[in-house]
Amino acid sequence: MVPMLAPSILSADFARLAQEVSAVERAGADLLHVDVMDGRFVPNITVGIPVVESLRQVTELPLDVHLMIVEPERYIPAFVKAGADWVSFHFEAAVHHHRIVEQIKELGAKAGIVINPSTPVDFLVEILPFLDFVLVMSVNPGFGGQKFIPTSLGKIRRLRELAVELNPSLVIEVDGGVKLSNVEDVLKAGADVVVAGSAVFKGNPAENVAAFKEKLNR
Ligand code: DX5
Ligand code: ZN
Repeated sequence: MVPMLAPSILSADFARLAQEVSAVERAGADLLHVDVMDGRFVPNITVGIPVVESLRQVTELPLDVHLMIVEPERYIPAFVKAGADWVSFHFEAAVHHHRIVEQIKELGAKAGIVINPSTPVDFLVEILPFLDFVLVMSVNPGFGGQKFIPTSLGKIRRLRELAVELNPSLVIEVDGGVKLSNVEDVLKAGADVVVAGSAVFKGNPAENVAAFKEKLNR
């Protein structure tokens, strides 16, 4: 598949969210990445269900909702009802992974699991055949603007190997510290979707999206 760009609104100006979203949409963004943080799973608090509902009114882009929350199963139905198209929850924040993946799929959304930088890719072996996508964190979740952890590249490569064997249609998404300067390495390792927050919304978002898209389409 042609790689996709998912700008993360975490680094957007929340007071001008609709304009920021429409700028990246017009410039060619493929998905809109929404970071949901609860102040418990991660040491930060962001946005929730009402913001997803409002975003659904102002964009045609699929909403890629990254849940950094404990007990994700309690809130997933509300997020899908609000308009989430892709839903991912953290491996480390859940116990019954298979049950939650089935829950997301039954609600009609794409189901993904997120792994933290220190969580081995091989922990996903049993669940991999059931997943639409895996989100590999290349920073510790909680904040935008952090530095890419270089060992993430090996994890992406390993995941691609496992996917060839266990789930050839698996989509691999990578999140954290992705910049124009390292996006080619991330793609070469096997990513299909790259998330970029500060690298898109700091400066001129439309120009930044266009520059990313050029590298993705190469
Ligand atoms: C971090 C979030 C990321 C964040 C990425 O917890 O999951 O989506 O917005 O921001 P950058 O691209 O600035 O690292
Ligand atoms: Zn994210």
